[in-house]
Amino acid sequence: MNIDFTGQVAVVTGSGTGIGYAAAELFARCGAAVVVNGRRPQVTQEAADKIAALGAKVIAVAADVSTIEGAGRLIDETVKAFGGIDVLVNNAAIFATADFVESPYHEWRRVLDVNLDSAIHCSRAAARVMIAQGRGGRIVNVSSIHSYRAERGASHYDLAKGAMDQLTRALALELGPHNILVNSVAPGFVDTPMSIVNGKNELESEWFITNYVQQRRIPLARASQPAEIAQPIVWLASRLNTYVNGHVLVADGGLSVTF
Ligand SMILES: NC(=O)c1ccc[n+]([C@@H]2O[C@H](COP(=O)([O-])OP(=O)(O)OC[C@H]3O[C@@H](n4cnc5c(N)ncnc54)[C@H](O)[C@@H]3O)[C@@H](O)[C@H]2O)c1
Repeated sequence: MNIDFTGQVAVVTGSGTGIGYAAAELFARCGAAVVVNGRRPQVTQEAADKIAALGAKVIAVAADVSTIEGAGRLIDETVKAFGGIDVLVNNAAIFATADFVESPYHEWRRVLDVNLDSAIHCSRAAARVMIAQGRGGRIVNVSSIHSYRAERGASHYDLAKGAMDQLTRALALELGPHNILVNSVAPGFVDTPMSIVNGKNELESEWFITNYVQQRRIPLARASQPAEIAQPIVWLASRLNTYVNGHVLVADGGLSVTF
């Protein structure tokens, strides 16, 4: 089964690193023209350069997609460079811990702005273009198993991811008539820069190794690599997916099937 994106344009937010980069690279390998996005111009450009070296059409757009202006500019520059947009992957996010009662509201709110509002702003801007083009489209939201499980000190992140999956269902309903299919991929533990919390890689911590590897709370006894999450993202975004709409695909190695 070959996934062919020739002639299609894919935008991946937060794709300078991690899962976003892996998805952008896989879209490019499948023939798409790709838009790499991130906040940091140098990281974003370097990621785009790596993808260009594969022989793909690619541009880098440094923009903060948590703002309406940044999201709008990302979609505008995509259309200017490639003439349209077929796929949007809402992947950009930050992780932080914040005590619900004591943390300053702006710190708490920032996680919602980046992790949820970015998907709202980018989806609205991209859907306008997709509807006007009249050739359908695909939106994939990268949520998390935090969308239905809560972690102490991460109420903002849990809320953002839960709302993101509900956004997926709502947009599947609203955009379906335009043949724009909207789905989520909800990863478990993934080996990316986001796993480094307070300078330490939590996937190397005793807590992770004891619980999730040795006691096999993850049946596969390991975290995933970003490329393993890119695979379902790219399939859901492809024209091979003609009928999966409003679905949350959990990619957690089986972590959430038991207590
Ligand atoms: N790593 C995990 O264990 C894990 C688990 C479940 C879900 N996720 C989700 O996967 C997605 C990708 O995360 P990752 O693990 O690859 O981590 P990552 O930190 O490598 O990727 C996130 C990217 O988003 C970018 N970004 C942050 N704020 C931005 C903004 N305002 N505008 C544009 N770009 C911005 C960052 O610069 C970074 O490149 C996120 O949505 C994350 O919540 C990750």
